[in-house]
Amino acid sequence: MTHVLVLNGPNLGRLGVREPEIYGHASMADLEREAAVWGSELGVTVDVRQTDDESELVGWLHEAVDARAHVVLNPAAFTHYSYALRDAAAQVTTSGLLLVEVHLSNPASRESFRHYSVVAGIATGTVAGFGFDSYRLALSALKHKLQS
Ligand code: DQA
Repeated sequence: MTHVLVLNGPNLGRLGVREPEIYGHASMADLEREAAVWGSELGVTVDVRQTDDESELVGWLHEAVDARAHVVLNPAAFTHYSYALRDAAAQVTTSGLLLVEVHLSNPASRESFRHYSVVAGIATGTVAGFGFDSYRLALSALKHKLQS
């Protein structure tokens, strides 16, 4: 069975409360529930996690490599400046696993500091701008790529 870690960075635990006009009204608990359904439809096991802590997120990426788990990653603000996260994410893809970068919003259409992702260059691909559907599309793309 394909195992996917769905990892979320800082402030995403505030989904539903934080800037709902940008990030929507649903919570991280709602995402966990929806991702479990998408996972069972696709035949993959999905483990959704969120942290505000950069070192914890780096540790989860190391865990993905060791457990041979693929990754859907919303690095949140770390996207734009964390070379530590980028280096950890690179270990996932260079070990032959898939890593899809996701964003709820479309950072390219927002403030200029959000236009650059330090993760994009080492990711398998990126899905942004579709709210929770970004995660659903990422899981589906990951599954299709594994089958091709
Ligand atoms: C985000 C976009 C980032 O720029 C921002 O810092 C976030 C969320 C998104 O999902 O749209 O926290 O990753």
